[in-house]
Amino acid sequence: MDRFETLLGRMGTNSAAMHGRYPTQEGRSADHHWRGVRAGCFSGSADIYSIHDEMRDQAPVWRSPWGDVFVTKYDLVSACLVNRQLSHMPPGDRSDASSQRPAINEWLMYQEGHAHTAIRQALQQPFVGKGTAALEPVVAEAVDLLVSKADLSGVVDVVAAFTRAVPEQVIGRSLGVPVEDMARLRAWSASIRTILDSGFDDAFGPAPNAAEEMSAYFTDLLRGQLARGEMPPLLVGLPALVGQVGLSTAGRNVAFLAFAGHETTVHLIGNMLFHLAHAPAQWASLRADRRLAASAVAETLRMESPVQKICRWPVKAIELTGQPINEDQLIVLLVGAANRDPDQFASPRTFDINRHARQNLAFGRGAHVCIGRALAEMEGRLLLEAILRRWKKIEPTADGEKWMDNSSIRGLERLCLLLS
Ligand code: HEM
Repeated sequence: MDRFETLLGRMGTNSAAMHGRYPTQEGRSADHHWRGVRAGCFSGSADIYSIHDEMRDQAPVWRSPWGDVFVTKYDLVSACLVNRQLSHMPPGDRSDASSQRPAINEWLMYQEGHAHTAIRQALQQPFVGKGTAALEPVVAEAVDLLVSKADLSGVVDVVAAFTRAVPEQVIGRSLGVPVEDMARLRAWSASIRTILDSGFDDAFGPAPNAAEEMSAYFTDLLRGQLARGEMPPLLVGLPALVGQVGLSTAGRNVAFLAFAGHETTVHLIGNMLFHLAHAPAQWASLRADRRLAASAVAETLRMESPVQKICRWPVKAIELTGQPINEDQLIVLLVGAANRDPDQFASPRTFDINRHARQNLAFGRGAHVCIGRALAEMEGRLLLEAILRRWKKIEPTADGEKWMDNSSIRGLERLCLLLS
């Protein structure tokens, strides 16, 4: 078995199985464009990064036997993120102008040109000018309730206790979701996480799914908010959004905002506590100088990026590092691998809150760079400061963690820590 075969085996498959499940480009079927999406994940394995390292060593632009392309080097991922020849839209969706398109097709993340600009400008209004000032009290209140004043001591599963609940409360309150509907938000989010991991076949098919239900819910919620003229903090741009794209597309995009605005931050916080618990010297530095909290957030985003991969499709044939890439060929940008590229970050496997990690690619880059970066960083920092005030030590426990089985989002399902 050669190195390539071994690598495929460690990805949870082998080339023969891949050829069976994934036809070559000549024999590709309708859902080809999403095939390799899941394969980029090496899911559930705690050490996905040694596989990324091996891919990077073999070829920075790594082509799988079923034809999809994976990019692992920082400078290449960074360049691809700003390359206008790489589309955000899956090929099948580019020509589809039907108003009956599935909800996910209309998410900001998959738009280009005018539609993208119109939706983005409206959604990012809360962050323009005063930045996150209006949102800080919402975050502070959630942290206070769920961390500072909560009855927590000894061994605590921090995911169950607060790493999920804090960002959920923040996004729910910032979008005006009533408390009694928060459980639905959690259930939809879990389903969409799975849909994004599945290769999207369901999401882009005609059958209704969690994204449709969530969109219908938010469309109704927005209708009420508009009628009352009451815009919650994250929706100050709602009238402009509805004016530009109509209520239904607005509802779909606010559903996306609700998902993107917390499912990622949940894992930033969990991943940060995981690394701090495993690095007592770093925890001691933080306790000695709490101003390092923002650096701990940045280093977590680099070291354990919550969004592990971003997909793009060339609108015409291109070359990457001299390799020809066909039009519409799926290119998976492995952000988590780029953020551990040794040519960019020295000793990339070391969690070091004193390094300059802010140039990591965890929030993407270019026209689609994350609009919620400042909010996510603020949530991570305020929560960490509250933990530092409340506990002297955070320590790992035996078998205390379980990583999620998901190819797109890297985070913990369970993290039991000894808090004292
Ligand atoms: C640690 C937390 C977060 C991470 C790691 C993260 C990561 C990302 C990444 C990588 C993208 C770019 C996707 C692409 O280029 O295809 C993105 C886009 C986006 N993010 Fe975030 N995000 C986080 C938090 C948030 C928050 C808190 C919000 C909103 C409140 C948010 C809203 C969005 C939106 C609306 C987009 C789409 C932007 C566009 O397509 O123009 N994100 N995010």
